Amino acid sequence: MSGAIEASGHVPVLLDEVIGVLAPRDGEVFIDGTFGAGGYSKAILAAPDTHVIGIDRDPDAIAAAAPLVAASGGRLEVVQGRFSNLDAIAAECGHRFVDGVVLDIGVSSMQLDQPGRGFSFMADGPLDMRMEQDGPSAADLVNTLDAEELAGILYRYGEERASRRIARAIVEARAEKPLTRTLELAGIVTRVLPPQRFGEKHPATRTFQALRIAVNDELGEIERALAAAERCLKPGGRLAIVTFHSLEDRIVKQFLAERTGRSGAGSRHLPQVAGPAPSFRRVSGDNQTAGEAERQANPRARSARLRAAERTQTAAFVERREGRGKAGKRR
Ligand SMILES: C[S@@+](CC[C@H](N)C(=O)[O-])C[C@H]1O[C@@H](n2cnc3c(N)ncnc32)[C@H](O)[C@@H]1O
Repeated sequence: MSGAIEASGHVPVLLDEVIGVLAPRDGEVFIDGTFGAGGYSKAILAAPDTHVIGIDRDPDAIAAAAPLVAASGGRLEVVQGRFSNLDAIAAECGHRFVDGVVLDIGVSSMQLDQPGRGFSFMADGPLDMRMEQDGPSAADLVNTLDAEELAGILYRYGEERASRRIARAIVEARAEKPLTRTLELAGIVTRVLPPQRFGEKHPATRTFQALRIAVNDELGEIERALAAAERCLKPGGRLAIVTFHSLEDRIVKQFLAERTGRSGAGSRHLPQVAGPAPSFRRVSGDNQTAGEAERQANPRARSARLRAAERTQTAAFVERREGRGKAGKRR
């Protein structure tokens, strides 16, 4: 099975650390919610008699998985869908509960390296950025939103300080003709921002990140996926999430702080109220970054961070709030 993955050009990030957290054992079932080129799935399947449900919203990733599925002897299933639905997808595959969930957030090298997908400001292509290849594209956003809405996206999802100036420049340019190409947009940003100095990121990096997040509702997807993982992990089940920037990591960090009972002691002026019983516990592999060798070998690894936790016996938080879970009471 290795040929298909290696030929894809996508090098899985923090692979040993992720597998260390997931600790796949005989007979266990895992969800790889960001299948991509299957790097994590393949490593999980190396443990005998494990089963993997691979999910990806990109139809190209699902099509490319066919040789891996065929070679897996029935142990790998792949499903096109969103990881926010991972519990429902696993249930449809016959697994109401699973032993591990892994997410490797963001775009794959295959997506970035294909100019036709429109993710890269380095190569000319249609201004698309839709992982699912469906729904409104980046071109739809830049050509229809007003300057304030555009600036809001650039500021919130790209942390772009020049968001208003870039948004105004986009609105002026599209008054001449609609923007359709990646390099057109990159050119507008480059003209607004000061020239890139040695060692700095390309000026269009933050604008492209922001639009990609907006087009694919990436942050909303992460929030919903964490809740879905909480619902379908067995007691003792492992959660491993690899993020690539602070906006993603903050969501995972806050979720785990709340669910492991570490989200702060509240105000010292108010009486102490015991929080709900934790639905996750901390594990030793939590909060890891790539070592020097991996950072040198794989530039994507430089900003990667692994967050990890293990499911406890208690019901998921939402189920408890709605009074459906077994552990409906507060401690
Ligand atoms: C960084 S790559 C994963 C690479 C994979 N771990 C490997 O080793 O090949 C991220 C993948 O997740 C997919 N993806 C991103 N957001 C998704 C979502 N909300 N639901 C399902 N798949 C998603 C992307 O289409 C992409 O193929």
